[in-house]
Amino acid sequence: MTEAWTKSGWREKPRVQMPSYPDADALARTELQLAQYPPLVFAGEARALKARLAEAAAGRAFLLQGGDCAESFAEFNADIIRDTFKVLLQMAIVLTYGAKVPVVKVGRMAGQFAKPRSAPTEVVDGVEMPIYRGDIINGFDPDPAARVPDPARMLQAYTQAAASLNLLRAFSKGGFADIHRVHSWTLGFAGGENADRYRALSDRISDALDFMTAAGVNGDTAASMSEVDFYTSHEALLLEYEEALCRIDSTTGLPVAGSGHMLWIGDRTRQPDGAHVEFCRGVQNPIGLKCGPTMQADDLKRLIARLNPANEPGRLTLIARFGAGKVGAHLPRLIRAVRDEGAQVLWVCDPMHGNTIKSASGYKTRPFERVLAEVREFFALHAAEGTIPGGVHFEMTGKDVTECTGGLRALTDADLSGRYHTACDPRLNASQSLELAFLVAEELSNRRREMARAAR
Ligand code: PEP
Ligand code: CO
Repeated sequence: MTEAWTKSGWREKPRVQMPSYPDADALARTELQLAQYPPLVFAGEARALKARLAEAAAGRAFLLQGGDCAESFAEFNADIIRDTFKVLLQMAIVLTYGAKVPVVKVGRMAGQFAKPRSAPTEVVDGVEMPIYRGDIINGFDPDPAARVPDPARMLQAYTQAAASLNLLRAFSKGGFADIHRVHSWTLGFAGGENADRYRALSDRISDALDFMTAAGVNGDTAASMSEVDFYTSHEALLLEYEEALCRIDSTTGLPVAGSGHMLWIGDRTRQPDGAHVEFCRGVQNPIGLKCGPTMQADDLKRLIARLNPANEPGRLTLIARFGAGKVGAHLPRLIRAVRDEGAQVLWVCDPMHGNTIKSASGYKTRPFERVLAEVREFFALHAAEGTIPGGVHFEMTGKDVTECTGGLRALTDADLSGRYHTACDPRLNASQSLELAFLVAEELSNRRREMARAAR
């Protein structure tokens, strides 16, 4: 039997990774205010995404989920949103063309403001201060006063998310994402081999489109190629914010998180009886669950039972993030657990969070070849198990940053200091993101060939 759920029920459960606000009155006022604001997304959109994720789980679509590790208040303008969106469109084209499946596009955008951290405090120049937990909670600057959690930041996050989502909707539906503009999504600075490969592919697509026009394909088909569906997602970490934006969907009468289309539970907050799982189990949105090396088969079984008791397809996405060289040690027991339960899940690979290292120069980085290696292992394991690799989840930006080493442009440790802009984890730049997309497209088309061979 499922226990009753309320949007504030998480408050009775043990919580981790959440701030303690020193000013309880200010917090209560902010929550009240946010609760009166309109939700950012409509429940019908979350349900539509769920249906598309169910397609990905069945191998008939593929999930592309990416964006910043942490969105920031300072790095917020139209160009940044546009460039991240462009890179995601480019990657989606590479995947659609290479793999011949529809790509479900989900940004880590318009809400990805709160971060789990490995320690509650840090020492900067001999001064101990609370750790930075993301712009929705406290300030990035290493100053004890800036690091005090401030509830008013939730209102700014809401405003920024609303403006981001507004622009993303405009780009998606207003002509920017029209497939006929496939050449225009390249970024000025993005030269090199990946950009050349993308250009060659765009030429082939343009040719095909010209052919279709000449052959008289128009009407609904042409219209459907002039826009895309784009969804938003973030880690549901700051539960006061999530609760305040939770609404009852007037169509179904069920609760829905109004903060974004898809929410995920982080690897550090996935305790089956904890606050984060409690909140997420009651909203009807698609839910992601990060699965790191410490996830045991029994944990996963309990989580599946709590998060998707009705075994609804598209509801639960398992985001594997073990690190290169470790997929074989961890993924098989989780695949077995899913099989034992007869559970419907979408398997996705996050090749970022298990591959973070401290470089010799002191920067947190991710060697790009390890990112690619984890993706390859993920595909190989699913091929061996006969299960479906249904998507990728990664951290990237459209800015020409130097945060992850390697890639065709061969960034080295010494290059990291050049343009290291992330507010949290190191992200792939546009060129590395494209290279990742080409690799995934290749893996998917190999898989398709294997399946066709097996079917003969
Ligand atoms: C993240 O996605 O930014 C993150 C913190 O991931 P994980 O919970 O998998 O460590
Ligand atoms: Co991250």
